[in-house]
Amino acid sequence: MTISATESAATNARIAHPDYQSKVMDAAAAASLIKSGDAVGMSGFTGAGYPKAVPQALAAQIEEAQAKGDNFKIRVLSGASTGPELDGALAKAKGIDFRLPYNSDPIAREQINAGTMQYVDMHLSQVAPATWQGFLGPLDVALVEVSAILPDGSIVPSSSVGNNKTWLDRADRIILEVNSWQSASLEGMHDIYYGTALPPNRVPIPLVRPQDRIGQPTFRVDPSKVVAVVPTDIPDRNAPFKAPDDAALKIAGHLMQFFAHEVKVGRLPKELLPIQSGVGNIANAVLHGLLDSPFEQLTSFTEVLQDGMLELLAADKLTMASCTAFSLSPEAAEMLNNDMARYRDRIILRPQEISNHPELVRRLGCLAMNGMIEADIYGNVNSTHLMGSRIQNGIGGSGDFARNAYISIFMAPSTAKGGKISTIVPQVSHVDHIDQDVQVIVTDQGLADLRGLAPKQRAEKVIANCVHPAYRDMLADYYARALHGSYGKHSPSLLNEALSWHQRFVETGSMLP
Ligand code: COA
Repeated sequence: MTISATESAATNARIAHPDYQSKVMDAAAAASLIKSGDAVGMSGFTGAGYPKAVPQALAAQIEEAQAKGDNFKIRVLSGASTGPELDGALAKAKGIDFRLPYNSDPIAREQINAGTMQYVDMHLSQVAPATWQGFLGPLDVALVEVSAILPDGSIVPSSSVGNNKTWLDRADRIILEVNSWQSASLEGMHDIYYGTALPPNRVPIPLVRPQDRIGQPTFRVDPSKVVAVVPTDIPDRNAPFKAPDDAALKIAGHLMQFFAHEVKVGRLPKELLPIQSGVGNIANAVLHGLLDSPFEQLTSFTEVLQDGMLELLAADKLTMASCTAFSLSPEAAEMLNNDMARYRDRIILRPQEISNHPELVRRLGCLAMNGMIEADIYGNVNSTHLMGSRIQNGIGGSGDFARNAYISIFMAPSTAKGGKISTIVPQVSHVDHIDQDVQVIVTDQGLADLRGLAPKQRAEKVIANCVHPAYRDMLADYYARALHGSYGKHSPSLLNEALSWHQRFVETGSMLP
């Protein structure tokens, strides 16, 4: 069913090319063009820029088909996590067979951990190149939210760029949601770089400062592949950030002191280096901490722009932000949308293969600050798995940044689940970031600067600075015994005890004896 003439006229300002106007239809009609077994490249990166109408219509059609005994499922590839209208709706309909690369939807998480949804957790910068390499299989459909189609047929991206360039290039069929909720002032804020290639044809990426623009503001799309255009007017949806609690404020405080010290001893310039700040409440609280700090003229080269970063821009503490997506609370998203013109010269939205590109992170010397689930005494970090086996979200961009950052920082409150869990453990139950990629660990208890330290020196510092008092003696005791009882003395470990805290939690609900 195509939509009515009046509705269509209302959307024409955003759909300004006649070829695309003739493909306008409602979400149900567009969803019916997606078939069981299709691999669908969806836009979306956190709760920004994801398609909102077609996935819900598709979920309804999947439920209907399944009620008739048809095992309708699709493969979902995205930028990162999306919103409840996409992952939530499709997972609820049991319509996702395979998902990559990052998920924070609780229903999808449950299915992944129940083993009923195949989930591939990848470094976010590697999804687009992997798609070009071809081992992810053909891409049948690109389902992409955009903010406008211009008279020349070029496409203005939405509030996230993610992998959309790749989906639009690679997919056989394209469905566009044109969301008029997105600010018209988004036009011109994107920088879409078309110079990537697979080896042996790769060339250096010509970006040397976070503010450099190296591409074009719009996507180029082959109009013959576009099978549907769906007008929408639906807000982005991110969970609100929690107000920083005591632990988050302390973590932010330790980091500010650390940065001040690094500036004082001449290892960082006074405007620091481009900031990368991860997802989650702690990362947002640290940005908030920078607001009251003495640092000025900051820049960022990061993956997501959260409330804290917007506050820094508003206060002129941050001169510009380069990212791939907004990741804003509903209030901040409305605020930005209404005031986009004020920020449009200071925010650049890029494809995630560029926002997270290891070559660029290394060149620019980012200060990478990411949340973690747990760290061990040697500084190995687990960002993804609870008790070694239940995935929380995924590695996201933390690996892209951590290995290549100028300083790689991981942070978490020293305990989780009301003190039943220590986030500093004898050995991590899953490794995402090896000790060589982790330079600084921060908890509410303190900060451990592990740069240049050998394993035993690292362990002493982590135990002294980062562990919650309820676990400090236990950890010191473990380490003292490991020093004597270990097979080797380089990174002392008691193999039959290293994961015993986790096992105790699984058995009793607490890591404490
Ligand atoms: N063991 C078990 N559960 C733990 C835990 C641990 N060591 N540490 C945290 N948790 C639980 C929390 O209790 C919470 O559970 P709940 O949702 O049931 O309340 C959940 O994990 C999230 O923890 P929270 O303290 O709210 O953390 P956060 O919002 O700061 O997120 C990560 C922390 C690690 C989950 C998040 O940073 C992440 O997904 N990181 C990986 C991706 C990444 O770094 N991306 C940025 C790159 S640019």
